[in-house]
Amino acid sequence: MAKYRIGVFASGGGSNLQALMDRIRSGELPADLAFVLSNNSKSGALARARAFGAEAHHVSGFTEGGEEPAVRRMGEIIQASGIDLLVLAGYMKLVPPAIHALLKNRILNIHPALLPAFGGAGFYGHKVHEAVVERGCQYTGITIHMVNQAYDEGQIVLQRVVPVAPGSSPEAVAAEVLKREHVYYWQVVRAFALGEIRPTESDVPGRAVLLGRFLDSFPSLDL
Ligand code: GRF
Repeated sequence: MAKYRIGVFASGGGSNLQALMDRIRSGELPADLAFVLSNNSKSGALARARAFGAEAHHVSGFTEGGEEPAVRRMGEIIQASGIDLLVLAGYMKLVPPAIHALLKNRILNIHPALLPAFGGAGFYGHKVHEAVVERGCQYTGITIHMVNQAYDEGQIVLQRVVPVAPGSSPEAVAAEVLKREHVYYWQVVRAFALGEIRPTESDVPGRAVLLGRFLDSFPSLDL
Protein backbone atom coordinates (compact mmCIF):
# COMPACT_ATOMS: atom_id res chain seq x y z
CA MET A 1 0.00 0.00 0.00
CA ALA A 2 1.26 3.50 -0.83
CA LYS A 3 2.49 5.46 2.14
CA TYR A 4 0.17 8.08 3.58
CA ARG A 5 1.13 11.53 2.33
CA ILE A 6 0.91 14.81 4.19
CA GLY A 7 1.60 18.40 3.26
CA VAL A 8 2.25 21.13 5.82
CA PHE A 9 1.40 24.84 5.70
CA ALA A 10 3.34 26.91 8.26
CA SER A 11 4.14 30.58 8.77
CA GLY A 12 6.27 30.77 11.89
CA GLY A 13 9.05 29.14 13.82
CA GLY A 14 8.02 25.67 12.80
CA SER A 15 8.48 23.78 16.05
CA ASN A 16 5.31 21.76 15.39
CA LEU A 17 6.58 20.95 11.90
CA GLN A 18 9.85 19.85 13.49
CA ALA A 19 8.01 17.55 15.92
CA LEU A 20 6.22 15.93 12.96
CA MET A 21 9.46 15.52 11.00
CA ASP A 22 11.23 14.03 14.02
CA ARG A 23 8.54 11.34 14.29
CA ILE A 24 8.59 10.69 10.56
CA ARG A 25 12.33 10.21 10.76
CA SER A 26 12.08 7.90 13.77
CA GLY A 27 9.45 5.83 11.96
CA GLU A 28 6.77 6.45 14.61
CA LEU A 29 4.73 8.52 12.18
CA PRO A 30 4.22 6.34 9.08
CA ALA A 31 3.83 9.11 6.52
CA ASP A 32 5.72 10.88 3.76
CA LEU A 33 6.13 14.63 3.98
CA ALA A 34 5.27 15.65 0.41
CA PHE A 35 5.93 19.38 0.84
CA VAL A 36 6.05 22.31 3.23
CA LEU A 37 4.56 25.59 2.10
CA SER A 38 4.91 28.96 3.77
CA ASN A 39 3.69 32.46 3.03
CA ASN A 40 6.74 33.75 4.92
CA SER A 41 10.17 33.49 3.28
CA LYS A 42 11.90 34.05 6.62
CA SER A 43 9.95 31.43 8.53
CA GLY A 44 11.84 28.92 10.60
CA ALA A 45 9.44 26.37 9.13
CA LEU A 46 10.93 26.72 5.63
CA ALA A 47 14.48 26.50 6.98
CA ARG A 48 13.59 23.39 8.99
CA ALA A 49 11.88 21.81 5.97
CA ARG A 50 14.97 22.36 3.82
CA ALA A 51 17.23 20.95 6.53
CA PHE A 52 15.01 17.86 6.60
CA GLY A 53 15.26 17.55 2.82
CA ALA A 54 11.57 18.20 2.22
CA GLU A 55 10.19 20.05 -0.79
CA ALA A 56 9.85 23.63 0.51
CA HIS A 57 7.77 26.32 -1.17
CA HIS A 58 7.51 30.00 -0.44
CA VAL A 59 4.18 31.10 -1.89
CA SER A 60 2.62 34.49 -1.27
CA GLY A 61 0.80 37.28 -3.06
CA PHE A 62 4.21 38.89 -3.34
CA THR A 63 6.04 35.94 -4.96
CA GLU A 64 3.18 35.16 -7.34
CA GLY A 65 2.14 38.72 -8.20
CA GLY A 66 -1.24 38.72 -6.43
CA GLU A 67 -3.49 36.71 -4.15
CA GLU A 68 -5.29 34.94 -6.97
CA PRO A 69 -2.17 33.50 -8.61
CA ALA A 70 -0.89 32.59 -5.15
CA VAL A 71 -3.98 30.49 -4.50
CA ARG A 72 -3.62 28.92 -7.93
CA ARG A 73 0.00 28.01 -7.17
CA MET A 74 -1.02 26.45 -3.83
CA GLY A 75 -3.61 24.39 -5.66
CA GLU A 76 -1.05 23.19 -8.20
CA ILE A 77 1.37 22.15 -5.47
CA ILE A 78 -1.37 20.27 -3.62
CA GLN A 79 -2.60 18.52 -6.75
CA ALA A 80 0.88 17.52 -7.87
CA SER A 81 1.68 16.17 -4.39
CA GLY A 82 -1.17 13.69 -4.08
CA ILE A 83 -1.50 14.35 -0.35
CA ASP A 84 -4.07 12.64 1.85
CA LEU A 85 -4.03 15.31 4.56
CA LEU A 86 -3.02 18.96 4.81
CA VAL A 87 -1.60 19.78 8.23
CA LEU A 88 -1.59 23.40 9.34
CA ALA A 89 1.22 24.04 11.80
CA GLY A 90 1.16 27.69 12.83
CA TYR A 91 -0.28 28.84 9.51
CA MET A 92 -1.38 32.43 10.01
CA LYS A 93 -3.64 32.85 7.00
CA LEU A 94 -7.13 31.69 6.21
CA VAL A 95 -7.14 28.67 3.89
CA PRO A 96 -8.84 29.86 0.67
CA PRO A 97 -12.08 28.22 -0.55
CA ALA A 98 -10.34 26.79 -3.64
CA ILE A 99 -8.07 24.75 -1.36
CA HIS A 100 -11.00 23.50 0.71
CA ALA A 101 -12.56 22.33 -2.53
CA LEU A 102 -9.50 20.14 -3.19
CA LEU A 103 -9.25 18.74 0.34
CA LYS A 104 -12.73 18.40 1.73
CA ASN A 105 -12.57 17.31 5.39
CA ARG A 106 -8.86 16.67 5.02
CA ILE A 107 -7.34 19.80 6.58
CA LEU A 108 -6.17 19.67 10.19
CA ASN A 109 -5.12 22.51 12.49
CA ILE A 110 -3.76 22.98 15.96
CA HIS A 111 -4.95 25.88 18.07
CA PRO A 112 -3.14 26.90 21.28
CA ALA A 113 -6.23 27.13 23.54
CA LEU A 114 -9.39 25.21 24.39
CA LEU A 115 -11.80 26.07 21.58
CA PRO A 116 -14.34 27.57 21.34
CA ALA A 117 -12.70 29.81 23.99
CA PHE A 118 -10.03 32.15 22.66
CA GLY A 119 -10.66 31.24 19.03
CA GLY A 120 -11.86 33.01 15.91
CA ALA A 121 -10.60 36.06 14.07
CA GLY A 122 -7.93 37.95 16.00
CA PHE A 123 -7.01 35.03 18.24
CA TYR A 124 -3.78 33.74 16.80
CA GLY A 125 -0.22 33.24 17.96
CA HIS A 126 0.82 35.05 21.11
CA LYS A 127 -2.43 37.02 21.32
CA VAL A 128 -4.17 33.87 22.52
CA HIS A 129 -1.86 33.44 25.51
CA GLU A 130 -2.01 37.15 26.38
CA ALA A 131 -5.80 36.96 26.47
CA VAL A 132 -5.72 33.79 28.61
CA VAL A 133 -3.46 35.47 31.20
CA GLU A 134 -5.38 38.76 31.06
CA ARG A 135 -8.60 36.91 31.83
CA GLY A 136 -7.09 35.07 34.79
CA CYS A 137 -7.70 31.61 33.35
CA GLN A 138 -6.57 28.75 35.58
CA TYR A 139 -6.55 26.33 32.66
CA THR A 140 -5.89 26.63 28.98
CA GLY A 141 -4.94 23.90 26.53
CA ILE A 142 -4.60 22.70 23.00
CA THR A 143 -7.24 21.92 20.40
CA ILE A 144 -6.55 19.80 17.35
CA HIS A 145 -9.43 20.26 14.95
CA MET A 146 -10.62 19.91 11.39
CA VAL A 147 -10.58 23.09 9.36
CA ASN A 148 -13.59 24.40 7.50
CA GLN A 149 -14.23 27.78 6.00
CA ALA A 150 -15.01 29.49 9.31
CA TYR A 151 -12.05 30.31 11.56
CA ASP A 152 -11.54 27.72 14.32
CA GLU A 153 -15.03 26.20 14.00
CA GLY A 154 -14.37 22.75 12.52
CA GLN A 155 -14.84 19.42 14.28
CA ILE A 156 -12.71 18.93 17.38
CA VAL A 157 -10.47 15.88 17.20
CA LEU A 158 -8.46 16.12 20.42
CA GLN A 159 -8.21 18.56 23.32
CA ARG A 160 -5.77 18.55 26.21
CA VAL A 161 -5.91 20.78 29.26
CA VAL A 162 -2.86 22.77 30.36
CA PRO A 163 -2.91 24.32 33.86
CA VAL A 164 -1.94 27.99 34.15
CA ALA A 165 0.15 28.55 37.30
CA PRO A 166 -0.78 31.72 39.21
CA GLY A 167 1.26 34.70 38.03
CA SER A 168 2.32 33.00 34.78
CA SER A 169 3.46 35.25 31.94
CA PRO A 170 2.02 34.75 28.44
CA GLU A 171 5.48 33.47 27.45
CA ALA A 172 5.40 30.81 30.16
CA VAL A 173 1.90 29.74 29.13
CA ALA A 174 2.97 29.59 25.49
CA ALA A 175 5.91 27.35 26.38
CA GLU A 176 3.72 24.93 28.37
CA VAL A 177 1.15 24.80 25.59
CA LEU A 178 3.76 24.25 22.90
CA LYS A 179 5.22 21.33 24.86
CA ARG A 180 1.82 19.60 24.76
CA GLU A 181 1.37 20.42 21.07
CA HIS A 182 4.60 18.58 20.29
CA VAL A 183 3.42 15.53 22.23
CA TYR A 184 -0.03 15.26 20.67
CA TYR A 185 -0.09 16.66 17.15
CA TRP A 186 1.94 13.88 15.56
CA GLN A 187 -0.15 11.27 17.34
CA VAL A 188 -3.30 12.64 15.71
CA VAL A 189 -1.63 12.72 12.30
CA ARG A 190 -0.52 9.14 12.93
CA ALA A 191 -4.12 8.13 13.63
CA PHE A 192 -5.09 9.55 10.22
CA ALA A 193 -2.21 7.70 8.57
CA LEU A 194 -3.31 4.44 10.18
CA GLY A 195 -6.94 4.98 9.17
CA GLU A 196 -8.07 5.23 12.79
CA ILE A 197 -9.50 8.68 12.00
CA ARG A 198 -11.32 8.79 8.68
CA PRO A 199 -12.53 11.81 6.70
CA THR A 200 -16.17 11.69 5.61
CA GLU A 201 -18.01 13.39 2.76
CA SER A 202 -20.31 15.18 5.21
CA ASP A 203 -21.00 18.91 4.95
CA VAL A 204 -21.96 19.02 8.63
CA PRO A 205 -18.99 20.64 10.44
CA GLY A 206 -19.15 18.26 13.40
CA ARG A 207 -19.10 15.18 11.17
CA ALA A 208 -16.04 15.92 9.06
CA VAL A 209 -14.23 12.84 10.35
CA LEU A 210 -15.05 9.56 12.07
CA LEU A 211 -13.03 9.18 15.24
CA GLY A 212 -13.93 5.54 15.83
CA ARG A 213 -12.13 4.34 18.95
CA PHE A 214 -9.32 6.86 18.51
CA LEU A 215 -9.92 8.64 21.81
CA ASP A 216 -9.84 5.38 23.76
CA SER A 217 -6.07 5.37 23.68
CA PHE A 218 -5.86 8.73 25.48
CA PRO A 219 -6.62 9.23 29.16
CA SER A 220 -9.59 11.59 29.42
CA LEU A 221 -7.65 14.07 31.55
CA ASP A 222 -3.90 14.30 31.44
CA LEU A 223 -2.61 17.36 33.24
C1 GRF B 1 1.44 27.01 17.89
O1 GRF B 1 1.21 27.45 19.21
C2 GRF B 1 0.12 26.65 17.22
O2 GRF B 1 -0.85 26.20 18.10
C3 GRF B 1 -0.32 27.93 16.63
O3 GRF B 1 0.85 28.60 16.23
C4 GRF B 1 1.95 28.14 17.00
C5 GRF B 1 2.98 27.65 16.02
O4 GRF B 1 4.23 27.38 16.59
N1 GRF B 1 -1.30 27.70 15.59
P1 GRF B 1 5.36 26.73 15.71
O5 GRF B 1 5.57 27.59 14.48
O6 GRF B 1 4.93 25.34 15.35
O7 GRF B 1 6.59 26.72 16.58
